[in-house]
Amino acid sequence: MENLITLVNKIQRACTALGDHGEASALPTLWDSLPSIAVVGGQSSGKSSVLESVVGKDFLPRGSGIVTRRPLVLQLHKIDEGSREYAEFLHLPRKRFTDFAAVRREIQDETDRETGRSKQISSVPIHLSIYSPNVVNLTLVDLPGLTKVAVEGQPDSIVQDIENMVRAYIEKPNCIILAISPANQDLATSDAIKISREVDPTGERTLGVLTKIDLMDKGTDAVDMLEGKSYRLKFPWVGVVNRSQADINKNVDMIAARRREREYFSSTPEYKHLAHRMGSEHLAKMLSKHLEVVIKSKIPGIQSLVNKTIAELETELSRLGKPIAADAGGKMYSIMEICRLFDQIYKEHLDGVRPGGDKI
Ligand code: GDP
Ligand code: NA
Ligand code: MG
Repeated sequence: MENLITLVNKIQRACTALGDHGEASALPTLWDSLPSIAVVGGQSSGKSSVLESVVGKDFLPRGSGIVTRRPLVLQLHKIDEGSREYAEFLHLPRKRFTDFAAVRREIQDETDRETGRSKQISSVPIHLSIYSPNVVNLTLVDLPGLTKVAVEGQPDSIVQDIENMVRAYIEKPNCIILAISPANQDLATSDAIKISREVDPTGERTLGVLTKIDLMDKGTDAVDMLEGKSYRLKFPWVGVVNRSQADINKNVDMIAARRREREYFSSTPEYKHLAHRMGSEHLAKMLSKHLEVVIKSKIPGIQSLVNKTIAELETELSRLGKPIAADAGGKMYSIMEICRLFDQIYKEHLDGVRPGGDKI
């Protein structure tokens, strides 16, 4: 299983290096065949907060208003216990970040580099890898929040632009959708539910996450929502309690936040019976399990695609007669390097699935 997800991560990196960001490009089919997990929902519904707690690390810009203005493609790699965790951006290939506050600043700076300091958005993704003993192997996409009106400094088209960008990620059949709805708003008005129902009507690949349970009006609770009585999804809803803005301002850390979240569900009478399937840690486990199922079902497809891509690249190479280069955040990849990379990935992949080897 580990090998399989590592393989997927490598292929996705190769796709990005080739300029395939999941949009129309030279090799869209390869990206399309691979599973990823995207976070969708209204502005300030808690998307970035949920991603952070799945990762178990503070590193994303969060806050009120439109904070996430470019897609962030985030690959989590589990490394050996005791190893030091670090992060790497594709646009800064030789720089290892061990200070996660610096990761957050780099996301903000790299967002500004593309969009200016305005409230503009861009569909060009930022690509970040995190290596840590404390994560499960996952590829996640943080997306700008869906919004209903343009604010000062934004073009009127922004509402539609964001919707189109989000849809471009989540309409892919291989995208697992983390649909984030705040519990203190009516589910009937949830942007997350609306758009995910549109692209995944049967709910096969949508996981519903209810945030801000701690912010509900006194005398109301989320039990009906969490039990799927308000809106039924194929998979059970997961409730989470993220850090509030006050917590963020006070720098409440992740460990303390998770402990408090666990205590919240186990000590609140209404939620006690659901506590075993609530919270960020449970969500991370659910995601990993779901991903495993999806990847296993894709093995034959991925295998033939990797094969096909090697063949295509070789044909292209012989046609060109000399290496060409694609610019990816400053690093140059020649066709030869890419061929070698795919070849290597393919061999590792075979090692992972060979009968008897049985690593998955
Ligand atoms: P995004 O815009 O959807 O990415 O949302 P953020 O993660 O940036 O969160 C928006 C604001 O809501 C921040 O101030 C968070 O602290 C706050 N927030 C998010 N989830 C919760 C929650 O479960 N409980 C509380 N009290 N606040 C939350
Ligand atoms: Na926000
Ligand atoms: Mg955000």
